[in-house]
Amino acid sequence: MTKYIGFCLTILLLLLGFYFYQNNLDNERQTLSYDDEQEGLEKQITIHFSHVVAENTPKGLAAQKFAELVSEKTNGQVQVHIFQNGILYSDDDEYEALQRGDIEMIAPSFSKMIDTVPEWKVLDLPFIFNRNSQVEAVLAGQTSDHLLSMIKDKKVKGLSFWSNGFKQMTSDGTPLLEPEHFRGQTFRVMPGPVIEEQFRLLNARTVVMPFTEVYQGLGTREIDGQENTISNIYSKRLYRVQKHLTISNHGYLAYAVMVNQKFWNGLPEDIQEKIQEAMRETTLWNMKEAAKMNELQLQDIKENSTIQMYRLTEQQKKEWLQTFQPLYREVEEEVGRDLIELIQSPPDEER
Ligand code: LMR
Repeated sequence: MTKYIGFCLTILLLLLGFYFYQNNLDNERQTLSYDDEQEGLEKQITIHFSHVVAENTPKGLAAQKFAELVSEKTNGQVQVHIFQNGILYSDDDEYEALQRGDIEMIAPSFSKMIDTVPEWKVLDLPFIFNRNSQVEAVLAGQTSDHLLSMIKDKKVKGLSFWSNGFKQMTSDGTPLLEPEHFRGQTFRVMPGPVIEEQFRLLNARTVVMPFTEVYQGLGTREIDGQENTISNIYSKRLYRVQKHLTISNHGYLAYAVMVNQKFWNGLPEDIQEKIQEAMRETTLWNMKEAAKMNELQLQDIKENSTIQMYRLTEQQKKEWLQTFQPLYREVEEEVGRDLIELIQSPPDEER
């Protein structure tokens, strides 16, 4: 019996010994894995920035510039990770992803935001923009703050507008010069009621399609034509699947750069300031770069592709404008004459 008790005690002691040894080892492991670098990593802030275009576009390059500036200004504490070409989210779901906080930043075209900010219809009116100095004043001057303050969604904060350029028309059937040439053709449109109405007034049909699917839609003839900037036509090689390109400059494509509000509120004030500073510098840089890029790429398309190019005459432009008058009246009723005039003649425009 005594032998048996002794045996049990020995086993118990061995088990206790093993337990304390193991516990000690775990503590040691934790102590060993701690170092200064790990503490630094914990404080790092990551901004996941999703967009739908290629890297070599005004928005793609602006996102990279912004990432560089943010890292520089915060000594690497804030890193911007960019997901281009819709690899994370497409036109259909990027806004909801931002609201949920699954990503921290997006920059969709303002057309795609009209359901959320109805006043922005004014920005999609055909021919409302007609000169670069006006675009710059509206999208990077005093008016831009006024426009951004129209975002009422509490989950999202508008930081800036980035620019792409003037939109042009492409088609596969007839060249698009007179309003009559659009009749019965089907055009891809990005989501946005004003753009849809514009084509309806031209007696054309529309298909709302994510940007990443346009090349295929044109290739398979699901759609006959589309409107976009030279930079988007160039980077997605749309000119290879279309016969005609009309330089119409009828609309302007720009982006609302937005951040998740909860994420923003959680940032220390000095970091917010540095991000805002990086954003301001990027916006001004992007304005200049975008105009240059569209020019150069137009030249490249002219020299190296077989697409036929046309430029609207003043007379043809007048006819298009005439066709769009009902749209002006409709938008004016909704947003007011003052807002239309503000966009047409921004007070701080440098001519
Ligand atoms: C489009 O859908 O055509 C554009 O908004 C894509 C973009 O982001 O430039």
